[in-house]
Amino acid sequence: MARNGDRFRRSDPALDEPFQGHRGFAWLWERMVRHEDPRERAMRKYVTGGVTGRVLEIGVGVGANWPYLPEGIDYVGIEPDPYMRRRAERHKDGRDLPVLPDRAEALSFPDESFDTVFTTLTFCSVQQPDRALEEVRRVLKPGGQFRFFEHLRPPGRITGRLADFITPAWKRAGGGCHPNRRTVQAIEAAGFTITERRGFSLGPVPMAAGVAIPIPLRVWW
Ligand SMILES: C[S@@+](CC[C@H](N)C(=O)[O-])C[C@H]1O[C@@H](n2cnc3c(N)ncnc32)[C@H](O)[C@@H]1O
Repeated sequence: MARNGDRFRRSDPALDEPFQGHRGFAWLWERMVRHEDPRERAMRKYVTGGVTGRVLEIGVGVGANWPYLPEGIDYVGIEPDPYMRRRAERHKDGRDLPVLPDRAEALSFPDESFDTVFTTLTFCSVQQPDRALEEVRRVLKPGGQFRFFEHLRPPGRITGRLADFITPAWKRAGGGCHPNRRTVQAIEAAGFTITERRGFSLGPVPMAAGVAIPIPLRVWW
């Protein structure tokens, strides 16, 4: 059966290239999440603990959000990096937590399949965030929630420029992470309205979590 994601795969040669996994970063990330700031853990709990119904997680990583998943949901995750997927396997603790190798830009799910899509610290790394947000909109049921937790470009003139300056090197060392993404603005520009927002600052870096609801197309256009 041709699935909706195939439409996107065929139309963009960049998405046909095999995903470049980051072996060293996967090793490092597994250690970093063990030593996270308690405020980051609280945001993971807020974002993940609020999911309901049929749920999609984008960019599972090593499964750092799994401890916070509520009972009684129907979960599937995507994670294109094989090194992350392999590490995540060890954190399943016998639970049924399927993880597909999809990229966020080309999800292999039909339109309106999920009550909740959630993601944490992933849109900094996704190669085509605008396209990925289109996909989130596509697979969410009307009235569904997109729950997110992301770090943002620092708002200060100097710190913002510094983030721009370090991005090329940071990307290479940090598994594709862009410290200068304006993800909240991107979510709004993709046709979502943010109905809840929380956050804190990690040094100069704003950390934003929240809930976004797709604006119905007839209202948005
Ligand atoms: C910093 S890690 C965060 C992992 C996890 N979400 C967490 O909070 O621990 C970024 C993740 O984004 C994933 N990623 C990168 N590009 C992606 C894409 N195009 N689609 C989905 N996930 C992607 C990476 O493989 C990696 O697992």
